[in-house]
Amino acid sequence: MTLLPPPLSLYVHMPWCVRKCPYCDFNSHGVRGTPEYAAYVDALLADLDADLRDFGAALHGRTVETVFFGGGTPSLFSPELVGRFLDGARQRLSFAGDAEVTLETNPGTVEHGRFDGYLAAGVNRISFGVQSFDDDKLRRLGRIHSSNDAASAVREAQDAGIGNINIDLMYALPEQDLAGALDDVARAVALAPTHISHYQLTLEPNTAFAANPPPLPDDDAAWAIQEACEARLADAGYGQYEVSAYARPGRRCAHNLNYWRFGDYLGIGAGAHGKISDAQGVRRRWKTRLPAAYLASAGQPARIGGDSTVAAADLPFEYMLNALRLIDGVPAADFQGRTGLPREAIASSLAECVARGWLLDDPALLKTTPLGQRFLNDVIEAFMP
Ligand SMILES: C[S@@+](CC[C@H](N)C(=O)[O-])C[C@H]1O[C@@H](n2cnc3c(N)ncnc32)[C@H](O)[C@@H]1O
Ligand code: SF4
Repeated sequence: MTLLPPPLSLYVHMPWCVRKCPYCDFNSHGVRGTPEYAAYVDALLADLDADLRDFGAALHGRTVETVFFGGGTPSLFSPELVGRFLDGARQRLSFAGDAEVTLETNPGTVEHGRFDGYLAAGVNRISFGVQSFDDDKLRRLGRIHSSNDAASAVREAQDAGIGNINIDLMYALPEQDLAGALDDVARAVALAPTHISHYQLTLEPNTAFAANPPPLPDDDAAWAIQEACEARLADAGYGQYEVSAYARPGRRCAHNLNYWRFGDYLGIGAGAHGKISDAQGVRRRWKTRLPAAYLASAGQPARIGGDSTVAAADLPFEYMLNALRLIDGVPAADFQGRTGLPREAIASSLAECVARGWLLDDPALLKTTPLGQRFLNDVIEAFMP
């Protein structure tokens, strides 16, 4: 197979939170005592060094286009520590001049003045986990902040000069009605962020909510909320470009776009996942999940949770799982460039999806119809081996 090297991103996982939220299945751990933040940054750089050695040939001459500090709660790390990591990463890798550098932030963790420090450290995009502006809903979600705390944190980041700001909202919350969901959207829009992520609350296995489910709106009600909020966001100038992502013109999240276009990324930190295309094909690597185990194995082979090369038979499904989330779809030729497979590998599945009215009948484009978006899981399943 011939793989063209796609754009390269860097994902950095920060695994601690003040408190675990009852709906969340991310690799996040409530803090007990004071975590070893500085040692963790050392471990991140050691992890990066080791990955660069292992993937060296595949990374040669490539430039990092985006960095994303995700969590967990990266804003628990001081600006100095975030800066130490970014300086170290810049010494080891070449960064694009306009690289997008995002830091996820829980509004309950940012004291006054912190955003100046993040900006000075090289962060140019802040993503806020707001979830809702209704204080009763925030309590039911186990959040550590109020709606006012969230609004103040967003304004403070804007005042510090961070021009690129995302607000995460969730909808279909316990006993939420359409008016409540629209009110959350209106209050997010009033803060004028450049980007809004609007996620349907899902019950994830092994969470407190899965064990003890709250009363959630049913599927039809959730769909009605999604459609009404999408229209409200469009009216306010936030165009939907992915299942859950809305942006002002020119403000789409470059990091997430690289995932959805099946680009490459190094995954550094506890539980982080990476994907690198090389002569062997599409390689995936993930790191051990528990912070203590990750710290204990800094830079050593034991930090690796697993390595695999995606089987050719699985590539169509993995590619579509990402690309078809994009409302505009992707150029059909990208499929060959990113997977190394010929178009024939998906010809029969494509024909079936076009016949069902799920995909556009356009040989130059892989793109869902509105019906395909509604039944996206079925569309993607059509590409299973
Ligand atoms: C890593 S968190 C963001 C930063 C920070 N940890 C926080 O929560 O404030 C990523 C986002 O995923 C979303 N999320 C987490 N669990 C979810 C679930 N079960 N259903 C839908 N969205 C979820 C939330 O909107 C959350 O802000
Ligand atoms: S703060 Fe964010 S990452 Fe942490 S438990 Fe809550 S939703 Fe998950």
